[in-house]
Amino acid sequence: MEVVIVADREAAGALVADIVVSHVRPGAVLGLATGSSPLPAYRDLIRRRSEGSLSLAECRAFLLDEYVGLPRTHPESYHSVIRREFTDEAGLDRVDGPDGEAQDIPAEAARYEAAIAAAGGVDVQLLGIGTDGHLGFNEPGSSLASRTRVKTLTRQTRADNARFFDSADDVPRHVITQGLGTILDARHLVLIATGEGKAAAVTSAVEGPVSAFCPASILQLHPRATVVVDEAAAASL
Ligand code: GLP
Repeated sequence: MEVVIVADREAAGALVADIVVSHVRPGAVLGLATGSSPLPAYRDLIRRRSEGSLSLAECRAFLLDEYVGLPRTHPESYHSVIRREFTDEAGLDRVDGPDGEAQDIPAEAARYEAAIAAAGGVDVQLLGIGTDGHLGFNEPGSSLASRTRVKTLTRQTRADNARFFDSADDVPRHVITQGLGTILDARHLVLIATGEGKAAAVTSAVEGPVSAFCPASILQLHPRATVVVDEAAAASL
């Protein structure tokens, strides 16, 4: 695992954008994360596209996770969020994600795994980290070998994500998320963590034991994992 400590959020975004660009080629498969951590990287990539130095038109993308029960058109569905914050402006049209409205969730999970495999697997997977060490929506206790499936959010994660909804009660209780085993299949994992609120989770992920209690610790098992942190998130390393 490579840990890169940079000054701040913007520097983290620029570095992650460079990593994404290094993977861009026709047919490249990008694994996208929602949440605030990748936003500076997404803005940097959008800028490069508007300046004419980058085209993602021949890439495709897969999302990590989705809320169960939110219509795709809901502004806080991860489908809507990634289009609004990144892919529409980045000119990346082929975006797939778990369907949170599927009636048969196990069938949808199997479809999603098959779609990723049919695309040739993920070349570079961007990841944020939850304050409890979760990856995607794999909460502590998730099997290290898990595949895409339904999960129940912890109270902590629902509280963390309440800021995107009118009230904490409006945060969905269930999600479909790529499993930790699914994430480990990507060829390059890039975790982005900024701000002091992530310092404890980053320390557990990087220096703690590999354990289901800290899902992000699976990065230690991956042959090509890059952790990009700002000085605040690196404070306890
Ligand atoms: C959500 C997402 C995760 C993300 C996490 C951290 O729970 N499902 O993929 O990593 O939030 O979000 P943020 O980057 O906003 O701190």
